[in-house]
Amino acid sequence: MSLLEVRNLRVGFATARGWAQAVESFSVSVDEGEAVAIVGESGSGKSVSALAIAGLLPRPPARIETGEVLFGGRDLLRMPERELRMLRGRELGFVFQDPSTSLHPLMSVGEQLEEALLVHERLSRAEARARALAALAEVGIAEPDERLAAFPHQLSGGMRQRVMIAMALICRPKLLIADEPTTALDVTVQAQLIELLRKLQRERGMAILIVTHDLALVSGFASRTQVMYAGSVVESGFTSELIAHPAHPYTAALLRSVPALDDALDARFGGIAGTPPDPTQPLPGCAFAPRCAHAVAACRERRPKLSPLALQPSQSGALAISSRRVACGEATRLLSEATSA
Ligand SMILES: Nc1ncnc2c1ncn2[C@@H]1O[C@H](COP(=O)(O)OP(=O)(O)OP(=O)(O)O)[C@@H](O)[C@H]1O
Ligand code: SF4
Ligand SMILES: [Mg+2]
Repeated sequence: MSLLEVRNLRVGFATARGWAQAVESFSVSVDEGEAVAIVGESGSGKSVSALAIAGLLPRPPARIETGEVLFGGRDLLRMPERELRMLRGRELGFVFQDPSTSLHPLMSVGEQLEEALLVHERLSRAEARARALAALAEVGIAEPDERLAAFPHQLSGGMRQRVMIAMALICRPKLLIADEPTTALDVTVQAQLIELLRKLQRERGMAILIVTHDLALVSGFASRTQVMYAGSVVESGFTSELIAHPAHPYTAALLRSVPALDDALDARFGGIAGTPPDPTQPLPGCAFAPRCAHAVAACRERRPKLSPLALQPSQSGALAISSRRVACGEATRLLSEATSA
């Protein structure tokens, strides 16, 4: 069994404009030591899914309508809050989009790191301090002694993100959930932090679920990728295969909007014409239909389900595609046409 197995997660918000279906259907599995990426445009439901998995979604306004989040076989959605709190930090680490929401502004870096250890492990103050120093050094912070006494506002953005990673990793979790851990940082720092995560993953055998706008940034790191659109997973597969032969028109459009996948580390998915649907006004058929150049009448009638790509064995072999799942009724035809053209 996978370390993390999320099944059929469905999450909405009661808003002044009505029910907003932020996540319609989200499933993912992450094996021990594996890195899996979640990509998609802004508003596609990546953070809401990540927060729901962590049990950190404020409820209300959010409501988890269906789903299971099995971590080591136990359902986190049905675990008492006290147990979940102990699990978070010790077995599950998190790095969120905005460090200011996760670092306490009035506590020094050292106090915050040591507190995490003192809550989860029975250590003396001196032992906690030594571990905090080692954690800062491990994430590449120079002069960690001095940094321990610093407050978050005294650090650069890149350094704050490193401290967040150190906090998330200090109790040696089995799984790290990282939601856009490098957004808002400059390109060089982004690449350094991704390299740091990759190194920690390898050295510790830690699993990572990484949320990103930027498939180029994680392409050499996450073995599998899930693409989200309008609250649903629309394509999943091995990252390198998905980049070489995207099967869903949305994935293809995302990849086309990245100027040069190999070297554009700062590439952003932003170049797809049209806008995603309003989550308070879900469409009956495929949510991508209004923006899709390949839409046919049937696309607007029925919502395609995420299903294994139905290629002939000779085609899958020739394209080197395995274990691909796609939510598009036209995917097989489009992929065959694209590769025979
Ligand atoms: N507290 C909230 N109340 C109402 N709607 C919300 C709330 N939080 C998120 N949403 C909605 O849920 C949907 C998914 O948001 P989410 O933050 O998961 O997107 P995302 O994929 O992480 O985007 P980004 O790349 O910008 O971080 C959006 O339509 C968003 O407006
Ligand atoms: S189901 Fe139809 S509209 Fe949706 S992505 Fe596929 S071809 Fe486009
Ligand atoms: Mg987000």
